[in-house]
Amino acid sequence: MHQLYIFLVGIHIFAAIIGLGPALVFNRILRTAENMNELKSAHKIIGKLNPLSSIGFGLLVITGLLMGAMNPSLFTTVWYMSALGLFIILGIYSSFTVERKMKSMLNIAEAHGGINIPQEYIELLNKKAPYDWVQNALLLTIFILMVFKPW
Ligand code: HEM
Repeated sequence: MHQLYIFLVGIHIFAAIIGLGPALVFNRILRTAENMNELKSAHKIIGKLNPLSSIGFGLLVITGLLMGAMNPSLFTTVWYMSALGLFIILGIYSSFTVERKMKSMLNIAEAHGGINIPQEYIELLNKKAPYDWVQNALLLTIFILMVFKPW
């Protein structure tokens, strides 16, 4: 039983790497693009990495809940319940803010024929920045809860 728990922690940490890793660099990848060709390639890379990131986040919650099922006392701890709550908030928040803006940006990039990145796209990318900060702050908070397990 203990070995299985350790195995789940291992999968959980691996899931954190493949979930968070790509998600944290998406913006950097977009901001390196200097023209439409580079921007289209950037979106293509993100499109390929995004499913990997989603699998990571899915695995995080599945392994996290399985560990809770194996050790139900976790459900009485503040750090575990807060992480679970924040994770749900994170999912809803991201799909209504960051992901929607990202979709609009992709649509603009696909529809644009010229070589220069349109102003409309740059404005949207800048508007997305504060939402990215909130998203990253939520991720970081969950990460800190996981590592220090307060209360
Ligand atoms: C952004 C999301 C998450 C990240 C980055 C993350 C990261 C981590 C890391 C790095 C550890 C190892 C910590 C250590 O042992 O020192 C860990 C442990 C753990 N996490 Fe998460 N986690 C996340 C979400 C969740 C969620 C949503 C749950 C609950 C459903 C959860 C439940 C657990 C449990 C039960 C442990 C094992 C604690 C132990 O017994 O040592 N995690 N997590």
